Amino acid sequence: MEAIGQLSSGIAHDFNNLLTIIIGNLNLLIDKNPTNTELIELASPALDAGKRGAQLIQRLLSFSRQQPLKPKVIDVSTLVADITPLLERSLPSRIKLAIESKGGQPLIARIDAHQLENALLNLIVNARDAISESGLIVIRTDTKILNDTEAQEFDVPAGSFISLDISDNGFGMEPDIVSRIFEPFFTTKDFGRGSGLGLSMTYGFVKQSGGGILVRSEPGQGTTITIVLPIHQDYPEEQVIGESEQPTIRREGQLVLLVEDDAAVREIVRKQLMELGHPVIESTNASEAMRLINQVADISILLTDVIMPGSQNGRELAQEAKIRKPSLHVIIMSGFEDLNKSEINRPTFTSLSKPFTKKQLAFALGKA
Ligand SMILES: Nc1ncnc2c1ncn2[C@@H]1O[C@H](COP(=O)(O)OP(=O)(O)OP(=O)(O)O)[C@@H](O)[C@H]1O
Ligand SMILES: [Mg+2]
Repeated sequence: MEAIGQLSSGIAHDFNNLLTIIIGNLNLLIDKNPTNTELIELASPALDAGKRGAQLIQRLLSFSRQQPLKPKVIDVSTLVADITPLLERSLPSRIKLAIESKGGQPLIARIDAHQLENALLNLIVNARDAISESGLIVIRTDTKILNDTEAQEFDVPAGSFISLDISDNGFGMEPDIVSRIFEPFFTTKDFGRGSGLGLSMTYGFVKQSGGGILVRSEPGQGTTITIVLPIHQDYPEEQVIGESEQPTIRREGQLVLLVEDDAAVREIVRKQLMELGHPVIESTNASEAMRLINQVADISILLTDVIMPGSQNGRELAQEAKIRKPSLHVIIMSGFEDLNKSEINRPTFTSLSKPFTKKQLAFALGKA
């Protein structure tokens, strides 16, 4: 597990840089040639493939529990209700989806809502693939009190949990399959249909969130996957926040100092910044960047990579720059870093994970 963790974070860092270049340039190419259908026909699948690559990296990090989570206080039954239309759209009409939630009682968890939605979508797609003709998928939300034996099965401490059951009446699994389904890249699906990362990712995410997961399956009968999640106790002290964050302020025209050691990444980010109406000066390392901040009074935004050659990394640069110039807006862009861990006890900066779109960049520029 540790080896896979190290491997995937290493891959993530390099691949996210490469994907930033691929996705960013293809996006600009398409944006600049809106009427050239031949170009769009060729570039769009390449862009989609780049985005799939980014998702794959995300899933790999998620499996090895290395992904930075963004937990929020949410009501799990509301999340399920909200995502139901999307789940239904991923099912053919021969498969029905039923939602059962216990008596409207709120099920408050502190969890990364986006990851939970992804996990649900994965489970629904698995259930769909297991149903060859018509069938039924049921999502049940409830609370569960786990005694010692049950808690052991879920690999969690005994106590109360939020539970999510996803059941299907598909073809089920033999025990030798069940024992392998959380392995990364284990799939029984044809090449191109499944990467075998869905459940390993779900497993990693659930464990990282303090929960557990259990599979029951009967060949020919169907499968039930149960996820238990810790109940968030501090409710209602902390406010339940919705998912949709809107870009706020626009800082068009303000000078950006872009610090990035990879030339091609720097070039595409510069182009994106210029498209968003920002003049840009560039630097390849922290010490030079610090000199520029001291010399060029007009710099109002610092957009910096984290891992760079030289004695200082981007985060240290950001801290020093902020002390020197408190009005500076700072955005940290990282190919891979456990943002949750590293931001404890430190001033928090707006962060942007590579690869990112122009829209995400615009959002970060407004938020910083
Ligand atoms: N509900 C289910 N019923 C029957 N078999 C299942 C079910 N869920 C998972 N499996 C089995 O577990 C395997 C691994 O599932 P997993 O979601 O990890 O990968 P995948 O679906 O094959 O590919 P990916 O999710 O990456 O597209 C599947 O290939 C399938 O054999
Ligand atoms: Mg799957």
